[in-house]
Amino acid sequence: MNMDEIKAVYLADLEVVEDAKQLADFWTKYLGKGGEVQKLMNGIKNVPKEEKKAYGQAVNEIKNWAQALYDEKKTELDKQAILARYEEEKVDVTLPVKTVAAGNLHPLTSMKNEMINVFAGMGFEIFEGPEIEDDDHNFTRLNVLKDHPSRDMQDTFWLTEDLLLRTHTSPGQIRVMDMEKPPIKVLVPGKVFRSDSDATHSPMFSQLEGLVVDKHITLCDLQGMLDQFVKAIFSDEAKTRLRPSYFPFTEPSVEVDVSCFKCGGKGCSLCKGTGWIEVLGGGIVNNKVLENCGIDSSKYSGLAFGIGIERIAMLKYGINHMGKLFENDIEFLKQFKA
Ligand code: DAH
Repeated sequence: MNMDEIKAVYLADLEVVEDAKQLADFWTKYLGKGGEVQKLMNGIKNVPKEEKKAYGQAVNEIKNWAQALYDEKKTELDKQAILARYEEEKVDVTLPVKTVAAGNLHPLTSMKNEMINVFAGMGFEIFEGPEIEDDDHNFTRLNVLKDHPSRDMQDTFWLTEDLLLRTHTSPGQIRVMDMEKPPIKVLVPGKVFRSDSDATHSPMFSQLEGLVVDKHITLCDLQGMLDQFVKAIFSDEAKTRLRPSYFPFTEPSVEVDVSCFKCGGKGCSLCKGTGWIEVLGGGIVNNKVLENCGIDSSKYSGLAFGIGIERIAMLKYGINHMGKLFENDIEFLKQFKA
């Protein structure tokens, strides 16, 4: 076989190489130890002496030529492999995006957070009491005595003779005053329960209780704080008005109105023509309640308030039925996406 014929065989073999594995086999077959080139080299011993030099050079040339062929093919295959990978990993940035449905906070949760934030800015801390309370904390120590008609203000779910689902967050006041000495400045958010259900009442709803106990606390402090509160929640122009009321745990007690943020006080359907909307109850903590918690009422005084979170949310968002806040109707809830 002359060298050209040998080259033709190599070329034909290389022609069918399609991938890295076949190329590696090609290399082993021709250029590897014991491969075809090596065999040609070994054949030198049978070549007459005067032709050995030419023969050696020819084999060497074949070897270099085969190596170059191999290198060229390898470069080509490597390039193909990279292109194939690019193709496979290609991202079409013009494709429409898959939308992921992100949830949002329930309006009551964001309302509660918003309210807490306002008071947190005034230095209030948070305490969360139990939803199952006893008579003592929910009523008696708050000066709502047994057989007193004021117990009828709240229709109670009784669990046993003594245990009940708390009817308000006010028992949190007692729990905090049992644990801490004045100065106290605390918020008690949470669920409360009453046997009551219509457009503006639900058997379960939530309140935000506030309690401040310190020296020289007066109704002015209460109104000042609540003024800031209604401005932050409703409108910069909002004002509060205190009306005398009655709660066993406060003396004096007040009902707090906010100036109508819809009509600015002129009178509209929201404020029923009065220019004012009732938003919460509060007052100066009854001395009996302070004493019930071992706080000297000759040294200290306190203010307290209780706000219905649903009521604030309904007023702020114009919701006319409290049930909407508990139905979990996704279309309704989506409107509150921030
Ligand atoms: N606990 C009262 C209720 O649920 C609301 C309330 C009124 C809380 C006056 C207070 C307060 O702290 O001082 O109707």
